[in-house]
Amino acid sequence: MLRTVILGTGSYSPSRVLTNSDLEKMVATSGPWIVSRTGIEERRVAAPEESTATMAAAAARNALALAGVDPLEIDMIILGTVTGDAMTPASAAYVQAAIGAANAFAFDVSAACAGSLYALSIADQFLQSGKIRRALVIGAETLSRVTDWTNRETCVLFGDGAGAMVLGRGEEEGRGLLATSLRTDGSLTGILGIPRPSAGAEGVLEGGKIKMKGREVYKFATRVLPEIVGEALAQAGVSPSEIDHVIAHQANARIIESVLANLGVPVEKCWMNIARFGNTSSASLPITLDEANRAGRLKKGDVIAMMAIGAGMTWGGAVMRW
Ligand code: ACO
Repeated sequence: MLRTVILGTGSYSPSRVLTNSDLEKMVATSGPWIVSRTGIEERRVAAPEESTATMAAAAARNALALAGVDPLEIDMIILGTVTGDAMTPASAAYVQAAIGAANAFAFDVSAACAGSLYALSIADQFLQSGKIRRALVIGAETLSRVTDWTNRETCVLFGDGAGAMVLGRGEEEGRGLLATSLRTDGSLTGILGIPRPSAGAEGVLEGGKIKMKGREVYKFATRVLPEIVGEALAQAGVSPSEIDHVIAHQANARIIESVLANLGVPVEKCWMNIARFGNTSSASLPITLDEANRAGRLKKGDVIAMMAIGAGMTWGGAVMRW
C-alpha cells in the first residue's frame, strides 16, 4: 500500500524574542519558576506587521522549497489555527493567494494545539482516496494577541510562529503515514479556551484572551497522551521500543517527559524546542518536525511517533515511517 509521505517541511519564527527576564518585569514571576514548571526560557512574538497568515505563508514557502514542489501543484491547503487573521475568510485563503497556490482549495481547522495533527489526518484521507495529489498542511498562531499579559498563570507559556509540511503519495511500500488517531472530549471545554470578546459590565470589552485551568489541563494531558500514542502504535503495528523519534506538541516539558516515561521512550528521542519557542499551539508540531528534519535527524525508514493536545479538549497521535 502506498501511503502519505512528507515531501518537505518548513517553519517561520518572528525575530522578536521575549525572555523570562523580560516577563519578570511585566508580572510577578521568576525565570527559575518558569523553567522548572514548563521548560520555557524564551518565546517569539510577532511584529505588528506580521500575522498568522503571513507567518503561515513564510513557513509554507520554506516547505515547498525543500520539497521542490511548485505552489501550482498543491491541491489542498489546511491551516490549523485558533488565531486566524479574520473570523472569515479562512487564513488558509490568504496563504493560498500569498504563495500563488491558485489550484488549491483552502480552509482552516480549529482544533487548538492539536490543529496541525487534525489537519495532517484530514489531508491523509484526501490523499489516500486519490482525490488529490499534493497537500499543504500548516499550523500557525499569533497567540501573543490573545494572551492576557497581566496574568502570570498563562502569559509565561505561549509564543508565536508557524510550521508547514508538503504531503504527497509515497512511491515505496512501507514508508509514510501508518496511523493517525484523533479524539475530542467536549465536556472539558471549560478548562482551556479563548472566549469571544464581548461587552461586559460598563461596556468594557471582556474576553478574547486565553483562559486556562493549568492543573486540570496538565493532569488530563499526562493521562490521555500515552493512551492515544499507544493506540496509534497498535494501529500501525509498531511497538514503543521501535520508535526512533517523538515529535510532540511543545505544551510543557514536564508533560512531554511524563508521557515519554509512561511509554518507556527515552527523552533523547524527542526533539525539544520549548525552551526557545514556548507553546505555539498548532504551530509547534510542524516547527518541531522541521527542526528535526533540517538537523538531519530523520533517516529513511525511521519510525516517528507524533502527539498533540489542545483546547476542546482535542488530542491525537500519529505514527509514520520516514
Ligand atoms: N510565576 C510564579 N508563580 C506562579 C506563576 C508564574 N508564572 N503561575 C502560577 N504561579 C503560582 C500560583 O499562583 C500558585 O501559587 P499559590 O501556591 O500561592 O497559590 C503556585 O505558583 C502553584 O501554581 P500551580 O498552578 O499549582 O502550578 P503548577 O505546578 O500546576 O504549574 C502550570 C502551573 C505550569 C501552568 C502547570 O499547571 C501546567 O503545566 N499545566 C498544563 C498547562 C499547559 O501546558 N498549558 C498549555 C496550553 S494547553 C496545551 O497546549 C495543551
